[in-house]
Order: sequence, then C-alpha cells, then structure tokens
Amino acid sequence: MKLIICKNYDEVSAAAAEIVADVMKANPACVLGLATGSTPVGMYKKLIEKNAAGEIDFSAVTTVNLDEYYPISPDNDQSYRYFMNENLFNHVNIDKARTFVPDGQASDPVAACEAYEETVAAVGAADIQVLGIGQNGHIGFNEPDTALEVKTHVTGLTESTIKANARFFASEADVPTKALTMGIGTILGAKKIIILANGAAKHDAVSKMLAGKLDTSCPASMLNLHRDVVVVCDEMAYNG
Ligand code: GLP
Repeated sequence: MKLIICKNYDEVSAAAAEIVADVMKANPACVLGLATGSTPVGMYKKLIEKNAAGEIDFSAVTTVNLDEYYPISPDNDQSYRYFMNENLFNHVNIDKARTFVPDGQASDPVAACEAYEETVAAVGAADIQVLGIGQNGHIGFNEPDTALEVKTHVTGLTESTIKANARFFASEADVPTKALTMGIGTILGAKKIIILANGAAKHDAVSKMLAGKLDTSCPASMLNLHRDVVVVCDEMAYNG
C-alpha cells in the first residue's frame, strides 16, 4: 500500500482529486468506481472545479457505485443515487445513463445484486475505485464479520454503522437496516484503488488496515491483497 499523509481534509480532497483526474486524462473513456459518505465530498467538489475549468472531461466516463441502502427510493435525499446526483453528476458533463448505482428499490434484491455484479463485469474493471472507510473498517457496506462476501450482495448493517450514519437521517430509526453492496472481490477487481480517511475516529480502522494482515474484523484490510492501493489520509486518521 502506498501511503499519502496530508495535513488536513482539504489536502486529502485535493490529493485524491489529482489521482482521479490523472486516471481520467490517461483514459477519457475510463470507468470510475465511486463511493458515498462525507469523506469523498471534498474530492467531488474539486473534480467539479476541474471539469468546469476544462481540465477533465466526463463525457465518455462510466461510473459504478459501491453500494446503496435497501429499501430506499432514488428520490429519497438519503439514497446514494440522490447523493451522487447532488454531489457530482448534476454538476459535470457526464451522461447519467452511464452512471450505475445498485437498485435500492428492487422487488427482488438478490436478483438486483446479481444484475449489478453483471453490470460491473460488463462495463469492465474500474480504472480506479474510490473508497471511504467506516469507523469499524467497513468498505462499501462490507461490515466486519467472521466471513466476508466476494460478490455484490444484500447485507445487514451493524449497530455501529447505523449509529454512525444516523447523523444524515431525521432519526436513527429512519436509517435503513439493509444495503446492497459490492463484495470484497468486486472491489478488488478494480485496476487501482484509493481509500480516503480523515479524522481521529478513523484511526483504529486505518491502523488495522495498514497492519498488513488479512483480518475479517477490518474488511478494509482485504485491500492488502491488491497491488495498487493508495491510502490518502490526514494526520488525525494516521496518528489518532
Ligand atoms: C458509509 C458508506 C461507506 C463510507 C463509510 C464512511 O456507510 N457505505 O462507503 O465509506 O460509511 O462514511 P464517512 O465518509 O461519512 O465517514
């Protein structure tokens, strides 16, 4: 794993946006694997600026998102589809028909996961996958467990993740208890991965990931299996 330690959140966002922009410049028809959560918001802002300045072009880009709550409608302002539209897609010259997010309102969620895994395979390996990290080390919605799933699947959210994500909802009771998420194998299928972390609350998860062992109690540690991972974190996430 390559490690970039930044002074603060703004530097994390700038460094991450630079890495994504380089991938886009090298291949204008690239596939971007994208993430939600508060962490990548600053990076998306910088990508929007670069797009407005004509430095990067989204017109031929395809995106695949990691996960979506279940059940949730795309119009719900807490859905990850809504988040992506608000934080990136509505502000850049992307063709929304080429932006993919798991279907949070599918009547058959298991079938929706199978279909999503096929979509990810059909668009081709992501040139870069952007990840955040949960306080408990989750990536996407792959929560700590004795065994981790390989492919896109339906999952229950842990109590700690429901609590952590309650800040975005009217109340904790409103947080969906399930999600559809790429599996660890789906994520590792990307050609390059960057994982962003900021703040002391992420220190334990970041430390476990950087320990270099495969530990299912920290799903992000599975990234040690990949040969091109860049960890971009601030000093608080690194030092605690
Ligand atoms: C969410 C998402 C993850 C994200 C994580 C951290 O539950 N499913 O993809 O990385 O939690 O979120 P934040 O960046 O807001 O700390």
